[in-house]
Amino acid sequence: MIVAIDGPSGAGKSTVAKAVASKLGFSCLDTGAMYRAVAWRALKDGVSFDDAAGLGRIARECPIEFGMMPGDPLPSTVSIDGADVTMAIRTAEIDKAVSPVSAEPAVRDALVGQQQRIGRTGNYVVEGRDIGTVVFPGAEVKVFLTASAEERAMRRVKQNAERGVGSTDYEAVLADIRRRDEYDSTRASSPLKAAEDAITIDSTDISIDDVIDQICDLARERAV
Ligand code: DC
Repeated sequence: MIVAIDGPSGAGKSTVAKAVASKLGFSCLDTGAMYRAVAWRALKDGVSFDDAAGLGRIARECPIEFGMMPGDPLPSTVSIDGADVTMAIRTAEIDKAVSPVSAEPAVRDALVGQQQRIGRTGNYVVEGRDIGTVVFPGAEVKVFLTASAEERAMRRVKQNAERGVGSTDYEAVLADIRRRDEYDSTRASSPLKAAEDAITIDSTDISIDDVIDQICDLARERAV
């Protein structure tokens, strides 16, 4: 079974996806981390964001792997071509670089293919922007998770402070979230939008625990 969770940045997708996966005993795939890893490698190699062929080559040829820390039930580390980038892909620099990289069709083609291959290997909660629309249009459960830009900025600042990486300046984070919302929802290739058969959950005024319970209930209903 595939549980697809799409939505704008900072809506709480990662927290919700991990919790739903561990409650249901599913694996979890963070597709945003894959676009971030490609952006990291492009910066490292000096590949320009308008070099479609160069970006596509990175996405096709550099293996992206998710790993477990000892004792973790779910993957928590990310590497590209053998380099551990778990923390390096969460910086403000990558937040900026990942939009143009993820808008590149050659990158999307390569990563979507990898995501589909991973998802076919078992029961997965998959989070991203185009999971219910493009990657797994036949997903049994499709959720579009959203929240106000202000609430998302507040949560992102808290998360960055906890991780000790990324900006903790609320106004700067809010401006970046608005910029990415605009970019992600107006790009030509797979813009962010809810699948027609997705259930939209607005988490501005409900707790993350309630969101998690709602999605687990949906998955259990669809499983019978
Ligand atoms: O979820 P995130 O913030 O880690 O995603 C990073 C970027 O990757 C974001 O700008 C949107 C893009 N992305 C995408 O285009 N498609 C996906 N399936 C996941 C992320």
